Amino acid sequence: MKQLIDTPLTRHLGIRHPVMLAPMDKISDGLLAAEVSRAGGFGLIGAGYGDPDWVDAAFEAAGDQPVGIGLITWCLLEKPKLLQRVLDRKPAALFVSFGDAEPIIEAAKEHGIPTIWQIQRLEQAEQALEAGTEIIVAQGQDGGGHGMDRGLSALLPAVRDLTGPDQVVLAAGGLADGRGLAASLMLGADGVMMGTRFWASHEANGSDIAKARLVNSGGDDTRRSSFFDIARGLDWPGNYSGRVIQNEFSKPWLNEPEAMKAAADDIRQTYEAADPDDFSVRALIAGESLDLVHDIQPAAAIVETTVRDAARLLSNAPSYLLNQDQQT
Ligand SMILES: Cc1cc2nc3c(=O)[nH]c(=O)nc-3n(C[C@H](O)[C@H](O)[C@H](O)COP(=O)(O)O)c2cc1C
Repeated sequence: MKQLIDTPLTRHLGIRHPVMLAPMDKISDGLLAAEVSRAGGFGLIGAGYGDPDWVDAAFEAAGDQPVGIGLITWCLLEKPKLLQRVLDRKPAALFVSFGDAEPIIEAAKEHGIPTIWQIQRLEQAEQALEAGTEIIVAQGQDGGGHGMDRGLSALLPAVRDLTGPDQVVLAAGGLADGRGLAASLMLGADGVMMGTRFWASHEANGSDIAKARLVNSGGDDTRRSSFFDIARGLDWPGNYSGRVIQNEFSKPWLNEPEAMKAAADDIRQTYEAADPDDFSVRALIAGESLDLVHDIQPAAAIVETTVRDAARLLSNAPSYLLNQDQQT
């Protein structure tokens, strides 16, 4: 599809459409990332907690499509060898989220690799800006996966006010269609990054059972908590929680954080014993934008529909304005 929308993001990365694939842990593998880039967006491999062999395989699968890679900051800071390995791969961008990424940004810049820092609070945007990050992603709490407590609708324009017009800023969290892209541009973003919508794509690395459950669930079924971090034995810093489709296993614990911690060993055993596709026990990570996900689509169609619908909405925007004769 030809380019319809031109923003500092499309110019900065040399892409046709202002749509980025979120680096969803192992779900955004090399195939999905390459497909989003091929469609004119920007694909990010989701390397999550950083398994070096998986990272190598994902880059191989992406072939010669330009793709970036995203890692969880607090994990990557504990793995300097992995950071070097990733930088040696010369990704099209290095994306980091969840922690103080300043040393990682510095290392990437030394290697000439474009940097993307996803922030959850305004004070983190200041940090990202000071570190000289090329692209800042403002993540609202309605998004799938880990995050913090800020909603997107005030955070995004506040980030824009902070950075001024020259910084490339993206919006993430609860965005899944052309309405989200058009609204984000109006709120000060140069494009959107979407996770949940691309999870429900043909190319996403997950089972048909998982994808069917995404389609059959809605935003009301999701909630932020630390339950599945405890269940998976992941030691997340306390100020982050994860938005996940809650299930029969998690629900009784959600309002009992102390009891949850005390029963951590039992919870973990039950979790590990369950079939990976048994989502009455296992975590299915997704955000509130499930309300807008009604089918599994090819990733390229998601990119194109999002841009086409946003362009239509933007071109209809003058219809809100009264002409001079009508003004009272
Ligand atoms: C299944 C899933 C896995 C995710 N894994 C990661 C991750 O490993 N690293 C990361 O920075 N963000 C991760 N995220 C969060 C995304 O970066 C992004 O903020 C979020 O998907 C945006 O909201 P949305 O899901 O409503 O589009 C994940 C999101 C989902 C849905």
